[in-house]
Amino acid sequence: MIVLQHAKDYDEMSKIAYQAIREILINKPDAVLGLATGSTPIGLYKEMIKDYEAGNVSYKNMVSINLDEYVGLPVEHPESYRSFMNRNLFDHIDIDKNNTHVPNGLADDVDQACADYTAFAKAHPIDVQILGIGGNGHIGFNEPGTAFSSNTHKVELKENTRKDNARFFDNDLSKVPTHAITLGLQDIMGAKLIVLLASGAGKAKAIKEMVLGPVTPDCPASILQTHPNVIVIADEAASYYIKG
Ligand code: GLP
Repeated sequence: MIVLQHAKDYDEMSKIAYQAIREILINKPDAVLGLATGSTPIGLYKEMIKDYEAGNVSYKNMVSINLDEYVGLPVEHPESYRSFMNRNLFDHIDIDKNNTHVPNGLADDVDQACADYTAFAKAHPIDVQILGIGGNGHIGFNEPGTAFSSNTHKVELKENTRKDNARFFDNDLSKVPTHAITLGLQDIMGAKLIVLLASGAGKAKAIKEMVLGPVTPDCPASILQTHPNVIVIADEAASYYIKG
């Protein structure tokens, strides 16, 4: 079931999101966090860092599992999702980096790396999964058409997804990786609580289809309608078609 919460803007969305997960962070010191990249969760990560700095939460014994990673980008590349996570969260809290997991986009044996990632996620059930959403309704890098039964797998990115992400690569589409490894939809559905954030008009159509549309692989995020515990926090622009 999806519970929708409206936020005025990006800042309010980030604050509401933090309040939605804060109790888990405080009450479960060994929580497993499912984390996302993209511009959307950065404000939430800032809230997490602020509260950590205030001494209210410790991540020392927590484990994190990130959704996805580009294939072929060196880990040190500033736009690798590993770099993103270090820069925007891990470097600023007391989580043990050995407990932070991001798919290996450089694995020689991708199939094995994917199977291992799903096995790890099964062994460490995610307490709270943070999600953004792609303009085409993707979650993680599960593009439209992905089977609901999917586990971690390698995907070819859609042209519109690569265009959306070109802003992180000097607006040069040729620099945007063509493939990624992503946690599958079934893995994501294993999380106990899912908190999906959306900000801006570019997400409005995807949010409408996710919440009100049919449950179909054409809109991968629509699978969340069948999860028992989903909170969607959308700002005014992102909830344009589903106001009130
Ligand atoms: C990428 C990520 C997704 C993310 C989406 C939206 O495709 N793989 O996890 O939700 O972008 O990104 P943004 O938050 O920057 O709009």
